[in-house]
Amino acid sequence: MEVKREQHTSSPPSLPTETIPIIDLSSLDEDQVSHTVVKASEEWGIFHVVNHGIPMDLIQRLKEVGTQFFELPEIEKKAVAKQDGSKDFEGYTTNLKYVKGEVWTENLFHRIWPPSCINFNYWPKNPPQYREVIEEYTEETKKLSERILEYLSEGLGLRREALKEGLGGASTEYVMRINNYPPNPNSALTLGVPEHTDIIGIAIIVTNEVPGLQIFKDDHWFDVHYIPSALTVNIGDQILRLSNGKYNNVLHRAIVDKEKKRMSWPVFVDANPNVVIGPLPELITGDNPSKFKPITCEEFKYRRLFKLPID
Ligand code: SIN
Ligand code: FE2
Repeated sequence: MEVKREQHTSSPPSLPTETIPIIDLSSLDEDQVSHTVVKASEEWGIFHVVNHGIPMDLIQRLKEVGTQFFELPEIEKKAVAKQDGSKDFEGYTTNLKYVKGEVWTENLFHRIWPPSCINFNYWPKNPPQYREVIEEYTEETKKLSERILEYLSEGLGLRREALKEGLGGASTEYVMRINNYPPNPNSALTLGVPEHTDIIGIAIIVTNEVPGLQIFKDDHWFDVHYIPSALTVNIGDQILRLSNGKYNNVLHRAIVDKEKKRMSWPVFVDANPNVVIGPLPELITGDNPSKFKPITCEEFKYRRLFKLPID
């Protein structure tokens, strides 16, 4: 389902008049909140949430431990490096080359939930408070993402648990990624992350104050603005497929800044590899035939990675 709509170029101007929806989760009118989340997920596949319930001081501590990790000498970062040849994604990787078309990022990737999936070898020992902060943040992102999945299930006319169960219920994996994009004087030639849709269910993203995330909608690239109190929620491929195409897997990319370091902290809510992802059977009727083939998450990712046909 990845559609190449445009080759990477230096970024075309964004339309200043429209921005991604900002949703206040503290509103007492739950039906209204649910409706707004559903509409934003259909039209944009991405939205900001404010008053989301995650304490701002915890987000600040999350930013600090991530920033401190990337400031460590390379040798210490390599202590949690992704293993050469490993099929799994966990660990620290770096790709900082001034080469046209190359990405410009270093990142750290590891599972944070469920406990049976965690490999602490990939969790930095430094800064020392890293583990405690990530564990606290995991609890909070789990609550928030489950709440969003409930709204999205209601929007499908299903039980509130439907999408959570569709992603595998208790076996659903949560993955932390911390992206560091140092300043890049050749920023027009490189991207932090080339355009893609997220292969997962949903992502909940914290960023630093340097903008860079862009999304594609109605034939334009839009800048995602930085809102200090907000988290950004992305809809990924697994929700597109489970919802039989109702929710939009947003196409996005990250650009880098000439002078300033950009950072982002997405948490991905991802089905376990053995879970079969396809349109939820309750949705399929004569009027709404299945648009996607049921496929295990593992096979889906493999096919996406090697650009093999899926549906
Ligand atoms: C991504 O993981 O797609 C990039 C997110 C970001 O850096 O904002
Ligand atoms: Fe992404």
